[in-house]
Amino acid sequence: MRVITRASEMASLTEVWKRQGRSVGFVPTMGALHEGHASLIRRARRENRRVVVSVFVNPAQFGPKEDFTRYPRPFAADRRLCAALKVDAIYHPTVNEVYPEGFRTVVEVAGLSDLLCGAFRPGHFKGVATVVLKLFETARPARAYFGEKDFQQLQIIRRMTQDLGLKVKIVGCPTVRGKDGLALSSRNQYLSPFERAIAPKLNAALKMGARLARRKVSAGQLAKAVRLEIMKIPEAVIDYVSLVDPETLEDAKALKGRLRLLAAVRIGKTRLIDNIPVSC
Ligand code: PAF
Repeated sequence: MRVITRASEMASLTEVWKRQGRSVGFVPTMGALHEGHASLIRRARRENRRVVVSVFVNPAQFGPKEDFTRYPRPFAADRRLCAALKVDAIYHPTVNEVYPEGFRTVVEVAGLSDLLCGAFRPGHFKGVATVVLKLFETARPARAYFGEKDFQQLQIIRRMTQDLGLKVKIVGCPTVRGKDGLALSSRNQYLSPFERAIAPKLNAALKMGARLARRKVSAGQLAKAVRLEIMKIPEAVIDYVSLVDPETLEDAKALKGRLRLLAAVRIGKTRLIDNIPVSC
């Protein structure tokens, strides 16, 4: 397995593979890899001849008061996991390699970026879209793998890919959860033992909402019932609970067809997000 820090080297390597007829699967990450990332890597491994994982904590997607400096960076463990999963190359650039002196360009997927998490994390999705486009340009993959846990991110990247006519297939993969239902996230390690014990109640509240969809309630009543359930979690502060159209991310007007129920909740200093499909 190669560890590559230069964009030009990464680009030449994937170019050689492509000329040899070997498809490239790409898993962009910020490191601190867990079983959720491992499931993306395994899928990329099954579907491609070559697999590249990027490990880059992207400063552009953190707000000034967010956790950029304390975000975990256990690179030695990430490297071991990637080697065990038979990754061909890790792309691990410096901030200066991705954003050299004078970098000015920003990618914005208008509308989709300002709702839900975007309303609470101004500029976050601009940072995500910009870095993902730049990583795509470097690795030029045939397929790129993203978790459904970051559902809004996945939809924004799908939209950007379609709007710009990028030749990469975006593969959305199911959320990996602990046995108690908590969605795996690199940020779960910030939770105290007490917070970790109550955190699965977020997923339980969403599941309750999905069950409610089978009864004759309105979209508004469903979201309200989930909000009330989450308010029972000690110390939980709700950023949002929304039942939306999975493509436009706009609030569902009626309980009809395939919808998505999303929530963001702060427990202590940790912000948790989760979402589940709702079929009516
Ligand atoms: O989901 C993440 O880890 C990040 O947002 C991503 C897609 C790697 C971009 O920095």
